[in-house]
Amino acid sequence: MSYETQPLHYGDLVRDPRVEKARSLLLEALELHRSKITEVRPPNPGLVAGYKSELERLAKARGGATYFPYISSGMGNGPLIELGDGSVKLDFIVGIGVHGMGHSNPQMLSASIDAALEDTVMQGNLQHDSASLWMCEKLLAFSRLQGAKLDHCLLSTSGAMANENSLKIAFHNRAPASRVICIDNCFAGRSIALASLTDRPAYRTGVPKALDVDYLPMFHPSDPQGTTQGAIRTLRQLLERYPKQHACLWLELVAGEGGYYPGTPEYFETLCQICHDHNILVIFDEVQTFSRLSRPFAFQHFGLDRFADIVTLGKITQVCATLYGETLKPKGPLLSQTFTAATAAIRCGLAVLEHLEKSNCFGDDGWNMQRHRYFRSKLEAFASKYPGKLSGPYGEGMMIAFTPGDGTYETATKMLVKLYELGLMGFVAGSNPTRLRFLPPPGVTTNDHIDMACKIIETALESL
Ligand SMILES: Cc1ncc(COP(=O)(O)O)c(C=O)c1O
Repeated sequence: MSYETQPLHYGDLVRDPRVEKARSLLLEALELHRSKITEVRPPNPGLVAGYKSELERLAKARGGATYFPYISSGMGNGPLIELGDGSVKLDFIVGIGVHGMGHSNPQMLSASIDAALEDTVMQGNLQHDSASLWMCEKLLAFSRLQGAKLDHCLLSTSGAMANENSLKIAFHNRAPASRVICIDNCFAGRSIALASLTDRPAYRTGVPKALDVDYLPMFHPSDPQGTTQGAIRTLRQLLERYPKQHACLWLELVAGEGGYYPGTPEYFETLCQICHDHNILVIFDEVQTFSRLSRPFAFQHFGLDRFADIVTLGKITQVCATLYGETLKPKGPLLSQTFTAATAAIRCGLAVLEHLEKSNCFGDDGWNMQRHRYFRSKLEAFASKYPGKLSGPYGEGMMIAFTPGDGTYETATKMLVKLYELGLMGFVAGSNPTRLRFLPPPGVTTNDHIDMACKIIETALESL
């Protein structure tokens, strides 16, 4: 698949020679400043007191402390980020999968300059520029690489909104069916409807139930046959218990917040086929997985293209989206929003997609899989060297995790905090066990960055 390098511009401003001059000056300045950020470093003592007070003000204003004592200085370099106290961290969580080209990336600056030259800050239902068209076309082109029949793309501002739209499309097309099937441990977002679906009771405390949801047991590598058969059995029981009442099967192909559990092609294929046989639509949530496995979409990685009725994505693309086939096009004004995304988000998203493709991230031996194997081998070595302190690794592609110590939340957060102090950012995932996960930016992470991360992990393990 080939792209033209720049989205269309109709206006003259972007072609004004002064714009190009300003662009090169800005890029030159960025290069100079980002090149100073080359390794993890501790805070600058002179900045610590001011930074602490800013964090306290932020906690007060937002009604709670931030998870990490993190306010960025606005500068970084690839996966390295400088904080307001002058410290530099190796950011292997990137806003939970958002900054796919790392921090202070020149292509992002250039795309943001293009956006700043536009007449509007936000795109939306009554205000598209050509970047919206390009984003929709590129996402659809990616999605059809192996034959999935996805024809339309609806942009939105969050993964939750993309999932809301996916469920609306499914219910609308399968009315009056109103139940959803998903997998234990799943996470779909934080709207009221999605709180009913997300398998975390604590995330819906006091929130009224908005959807009828049925759960299938998740695939587990310790018992591939048993867990696959268990899921099939449960699915068949549900279909008997609630005949014709399910509109869709909603799936994460690698459980993200749930703890980095990938399924297998056999597990997913069987469940999707049974659902299709019962006229139940299949929705793949790719909000966290998109661009992180051997293909742009995880459904392509697992060879599930023929089941992709509706697909949602977000995070790394900066703008979120719901893709669906022609036959599911709503009859009536079901889908609409004032804002689909900021112009800068859409243009930066386009630059991310272009970069990911050009930098060979995809393919069985593409960067994502190569980096995974490298990171995996290092973590496996730690699992042997430090028995009882680290188990795993788990995950797929550029979604990788391990379980620290006894797998309790307390041990995982203790290690997470230690890693942060030493300069590495990850995050927790799952419960029973709680794991530490990493989402290194696929477009810019090198083996040297993985070495840097592993050195910090080893120091933390020694102190555990
Ligand atoms: C798989 C999955 N779906 C949906 C969402 C919700 O996305 P957002 O936070 O942008 O609403 C997330 C967020 O982490 C996610 O991981």
